[in-house]
Amino acid sequence: MDEVVHKLKNKSTEVKNICCIGAGYVGGPTMAVIAKHCPEIEVNVVDINENRINSWNEINLNNLPIFEPGLDLIIDNVRGKNLHFSTDVKAAVMQADLIFIAVNTPTKLKGIGAGQASDLRWIESCAREISEYARGHTIVVEKSTLPVRTAEVIENILNSAETNSKREEISFDVLSNPEFLAEGTAIKDLENPDRVLIGGDNKNAMIELSKIYRAWVPEEKILFTNIWSSELAKLTSNAFLAQRISSINSITAICEVTSADVREVSRAIGKDTRIGSKFLDSGPGLGGSCFKKDILNLVYIAEYFGLSEVANFWESVVKINSWHQQRISEIVVKKLFGSVSNKKLVILGFAFKANTNDTRESAAITICKNLLNEGANLLIYDPKVTASQIENDLKTNQTKSAENYKSSLNEKLGSWEYSKSINNLEIFNNAYAVLVLTEWEEFRKLNWMTISKKMTPPAWVFDSRSIINTEEVKDAGLRLWRIGDGLEN
Ligand SMILES: NC(=O)c1ccc[n+]([C@@H]2O[C@H](COP(=O)([O-])OP(=O)(O)OC[C@H]3O[C@@H](n4cnc5c(N)ncnc54)[C@H](O)[C@@H]3O)[C@@H](O)[C@H]2O)c1
Repeated sequence: MDEVVHKLKNKSTEVKNICCIGAGYVGGPTMAVIAKHCPEIEVNVVDINENRINSWNEINLNNLPIFEPGLDLIIDNVRGKNLHFSTDVKAAVMQADLIFIAVNTPTKLKGIGAGQASDLRWIESCAREISEYARGHTIVVEKSTLPVRTAEVIENILNSAETNSKREEISFDVLSNPEFLAEGTAIKDLENPDRVLIGGDNKNAMIELSKIYRAWVPEEKILFTNIWSSELAKLTSNAFLAQRISSINSITAICEVTSADVREVSRAIGKDTRIGSKFLDSGPGLGGSCFKKDILNLVYIAEYFGLSEVANFWESVVKINSWHQQRISEIVVKKLFGSVSNKKLVILGFAFKANTNDTRESAAITICKNLLNEGANLLIYDPKVTASQIENDLKTNQTKSAENYKSSLNEKLGSWEYSKSINNLEIFNNAYAVLVLTEWEEFRKLNWMTISKKMTPPAWVFDSRSIINTEEVKDAGLRLWRIGDGLEN
């Protein structure tokens, strides 16, 4: 038996059929791009979430579960040809030569490591499903972001299937192939990645995986490392990016109490080729499903190995982010004469960044909750985020559910409403302030002269993204607070 498995493990498998478990922000776009460039490979994307799969199969491409510029076009071209979305995990796993695991790995909410470590229950259940249904030799690829040495967990589960199975032909190789796409530019990033990282210890399997990417990615961009370096590189990459955002956001606070302007500071430091100009835009605080969770994961690993100084260093990136979001909420209240109770405030943007409908860890959630707790009445608009998503995000408030907000004025908690559009500018009627929280293009073009006439004077514009034309806002007679702008004080 050992010999059979050994022989099969070293056999190179020509990949003709791919399965991706997890049809989320990573699984969907990544597999669409693979299907586009590898028409000879069948790609099956499976998920336990039936609604999500139904949305991926929607004829109307506006109803895809994920909004990413360019994604709808690719889906239109490959769906039903060599790209299929289904809930039939068993069938897809059985047929696959190579399986990507792209399921969610959120921060653990309870038990050992709660609040820091990744919750690996979805990874474990995938590994068990693969061990049960796989046939022949299968390459299993970690696409999800995972703590260092998770491949070992997956290997253990798969190996026990190998040794226990009566199906003597079954064998596995486990590789790490973390995804570096950024939401909002996912298709661009997948089409032209800075690098593709493949970690593993079986060269044949690594080559088979690299062949898929070589259909469109230049060979020199495909890096081979050992599996643990690959897992750690992904966490470290996100930690460095998040650190840059927290760094520049911390400088906004200094700018606001001096006469410096954070945009000028960013431009000046970004010209230094050792620093570079990317990721130096200040904003309302880092968000998205990954940065905070991946840093906390790094913190957990460092603590686990007794490296408390390392843990403290990285944890401070998350702590200053929370402080920064709190700081912005407080500024709004302070500028509105110390109270927003019963005041209508217009919230422009709820997604954590532009060009995505993802709200996970969005700064808008914290800022809106803070303002609701201060009694504000919010009118929220985002071009891609639905009302039910906002409801979901705001009801996790420790004190009140979203439903309760709507009828809780007498308890001094605010309320919120959703607006489908800002086209007729009615949303601004009688508002005391407008908060720009996401950098959607359409917010750059607003007619402030008309808006100003609809608002309750002295009305404020709070621009946390530096996208508003300051002259137009001032000429319209509005008061303006812009992030990191010392000159406003
Ligand atoms: N979102 C990003 O920008 C991004 C970028 C790089 C890496 N990552 C990482 O990729 C992973 C996935 O992230 P995401 O944003 O796509 O998550 P997501 O929550 O959007 O999607 C995960 C999907 O997996 C499905 N799932 C969970 N368990 C399953 C199972 N046993 N069988 C079938 N389906 C199952 C869920 O139903 C869900 O639809 C995470 O580890 C994340 O850290 C995310």
